[in-house]
Amino acid sequence: MPKPPLTEVEAPNPWLGLGPSEHFFENEEIDGLIKRGLFYARAGVPIHFQGPAGLGKTSLALAIAHKLGRPVSVMVGNDWLDVDDMIGKEVGQNTSSVVDRYISRVRRSEQQTRYAWEDSILAEAMEKGHTLVYDEFTRSSAKANGILLSVLEEGVLISTDQVNQRTTLHAHPEFRIILTSNPHDYSGVNATPDALLDRMVTFTLDGYGVETRAGIIAARTGLDAEMSQRIVRLLALLHDTEKAGHASLRAGILIARVAALRLRSGTLSDALLAQITADVMNGRGQEFTAGQIAKQLTKLT
Ligand SMILES: Nc1ncnc2c1ncn2[C@@H]1O[C@H](COP(=O)(O)OP(=O)(O)OP(=O)(O)O)[C@@H](O)[C@H]1O
Ligand SMILES: [Mg+2]
Repeated sequence: MPKPPLTEVEAPNPWLGLGPSEHFFENEEIDGLIKRGLFYARAGVPIHFQGPAGLGKTSLALAIAHKLGRPVSVMVGNDWLDVDDMIGKEVGQNTSSVVDRYISRVRRSEQQTRYAWEDSILAEAMEKGHTLVYDEFTRSSAKANGILLSVLEEGVLISTDQVNQRTTLHAHPEFRIILTSNPHDYSGVNATPDALLDRMVTFTLDGYGVETRAGIIAARTGLDAEMSQRIVRLLALLHDTEKAGHASLRAGILIARVAALRLRSGTLSDALLAQITADVMNGRGQEFTAGQIAKQLTKLT
């Protein structure tokens, strides 16, 4: 099949992220999950969304956090996070000197050094009653996350704050925590210790339905409902499942973004849509030729 000509299209600003409410798509399916999450979060129970990449866990956690109406802090798990990053640490020092020249020939000086203490994101959220979204928390080591045991159980952070001589920090009554994680067979992800899982309510996401996925794609790219559905159904066909279950939403959004740009300045042939889809899918371990995809597209009209 001849490759369609790739006339260039320019994106006005491709880096517009997802604002707190802007472009966030809600329907019955998403609302149901938000309500369930809010129910437990309001009752003071830590909630946890787990599931494969790109299903919407972080977006859901942030949506619930914003609906709780308190300031939202975000912490992202990483294997270099240390116990200090969870508790807080001493930073810098202030040295002040007093020079006593009461008698001109005798000079007495005194030096005092004070360390400054910097709270961790967790400590600050606990102290000020923020909602903390701890995204991808299983990317941090079990040792760093061990600090969470007493936080999740009784809202107590064991502190090593020598500067303010504080040994424990008690959470503000409005402190809430929402966690997300990928399955532990993903690279860079550690298994979640049972002791932590035992202290939260875990929701396992297994992918939104076709309508919801199409709604999200339309909301994020401005593509019309029909075209958004077409892309979702195409990806579902390629995944050989009606629900396109574990397929990342990102691939669909990416294809739709380029398609929407193209449609703004011209037309989008099936051949071009198939080529874009092949380019996006091939880097994701889904080896399809544009020709194979174009054949699937004919089933959708
Ligand atoms: N309800 C929604 N409305 C608009 N966009 C959404 C919605 N849910 C998810 N998205 C978008 O879908 C993509 C994947 O969602 P998100 O980042 O939340 O997934 P994730 O499960 O956290 O993925 P990962 O495991 O890779 O971190 C993102 O671009 C996100 O902005
Ligand atoms: Mg995420």
